[in-house]
Amino acid sequence: MNVILHSGLASSVETPLLAVPVLGDDSRGAIFDAVDERTGGRLSRIADEEQFKGKGGKTLLVHCDTPGLSRVLLYGVGKEADLKATSVRAMAAAAVSQANKRHLSAVALCIPDGVDKEAATVFATQGAALGGYRFEDFLTQNVEELACNNLCIVGGASDAEGLVERTLAAAAGVNLARDLVNGPPVQVTPTYMAETAKKIADESGLECTIFDKAALERAGMNLLLAVSAGSDEEPRLIHLTYRPEGADENTPQIALVGKGLTFDAGGYNLKPSGSIEDMKMDMAGGAAVLGAMKAVKAFAPNVIVHGVVPSSENLVSGGAYKVGDIFHSLNGKSVQIMNTDAEGRLILADALCYTERMGVERIVDLATLTGACMVALGPHTAGLFSDHDDFAKSIERAADKAGENVWRMPLQKKLRPMLDSPIADMKNVGQRWGGAITAGLFLQEFVGDTTWAHLDIAGPAYSDKADEHVPKGGTGFAVLTLLELISGEL
Ligand code: BES
Ligand code: MG
Ligand code: ZN
Repeated sequence: MNVILHSGLASSVETPLLAVPVLGDDSRGAIFDAVDERTGGRLSRIADEEQFKGKGGKTLLVHCDTPGLSRVLLYGVGKEADLKATSVRAMAAAAVSQANKRHLSAVALCIPDGVDKEAATVFATQGAALGGYRFEDFLTQNVEELACNNLCIVGGASDAEGLVERTLAAAAGVNLARDLVNGPPVQVTPTYMAETAKKIADESGLECTIFDKAALERAGMNLLLAVSAGSDEEPRLIHLTYRPEGADENTPQIALVGKGLTFDAGGYNLKPSGSIEDMKMDMAGGAAVLGAMKAVKAFAPNVIVHGVVPSSENLVSGGAYKVGDIFHSLNGKSVQIMNTDAEGRLILADALCYTERMGVERIVDLATLTGACMVALGPHTAGLFSDHDDFAKSIERAADKAGENVWRMPLQKKLRPMLDSPIADMKNVGQRWGGAITAGLFLQEFVGDTTWAHLDIAGPAYSDKADEHVPKGGTGFAVLTLLELISGEL
């Protein structure tokens, strides 16, 4: 996406499609009035005829005979009192998707009055770069040739080129995460995840260490190896590191740890039809970590950032791990497998031990971990689990800035006995109720005293239908939150 910051007025911009915010009040707003005047009153005439009232998210496309202005997309932003900068993101996404349908290569968009100009410029750029996303790698027909890849922002922040560049880098990270989730599991294997990580490291000068199967065996990551035992594809543990210039031993360190389960069949607790179809998405946490690491350099945060992704398949075969098996994790705790479909917490357990041993100050893990979290919070909201209030609040703030939904859940100690086993240090599942919490309590056993938070992204990582700037399929959820987190106050 090329972004131009237009310093003039909406009345002067030349474009094949201009998105105009329309207030849902008695007055449609000064921007509408100015463009209406330019079109000789055509906009207000048609808006009246079509009873377009500026309700939030409603659109109306109007063709114009005005020189330099072929079409106007009226975009309802609702009541002025409720106006949010995030609605600019939805408006930009709507404009780009209209442009794509009409094979227009450029759009312009007016920032509404009364929103923070910097935030609105970020959201306009995001909406365009994320809303135009399509996954067409496997289409041999009906591939759209021309995509809209020019956005002109009217009335946004001035001197914001750096901000736009950073925002585009973040969007590229989100779109990488989407590509990884959308790619079929025959392609997106643990090896492919590792190759993607290497490519990111080469492009942005990050350090990259990959543990192959032999290295995992030498290290003693037995839980990751157990999950992977039923698979012909070898597991990997990916470790990327960003170091700010001049970093020394006093530079704070944060680690992002993402579940990279490239296909979750459930193992011998095999998933039935109806539950298995989308399980290529079970690496969305790992994809979010790789997406954030792809963009981290553009944000140049003053912290060392580690991206750690344990990656495996979870299949069945004569070599697969079995219900009742017991394995020792990297930190030596014995785990009795009572459900092979609770595999995410197993591969994360070893990855968290590995990360904790590096001596980082903070760890946040991301995982499509439990259906229970979707039952609790619905499809659009991630569960946030942490005993560290300050860190949890930082994550909530970051998510808020990024326009992503997270909701704090309790890590209730009272449920910990559900994980007790008579013959091992713990079982890998609790009982039925509180499944998202017991999963979190399980992970907590592997982070020692490190400040830690867990995001269960099972719901928001994957979407059944397109909405605003979020396409159907992989959403790239959490990349923007992670980038806000590492570049903000921790
Ligand atoms: N990958 C799944 C969780 C999941 C479910 C993600 C639906 C996205 C959508 C995870 O590995 C799993 O199978 N969890 C089990 C845990 C249970 C066996 C305790 C679940 O949620 O049913
Ligand atoms: Mg599972
Ligand atoms: Zn899983």
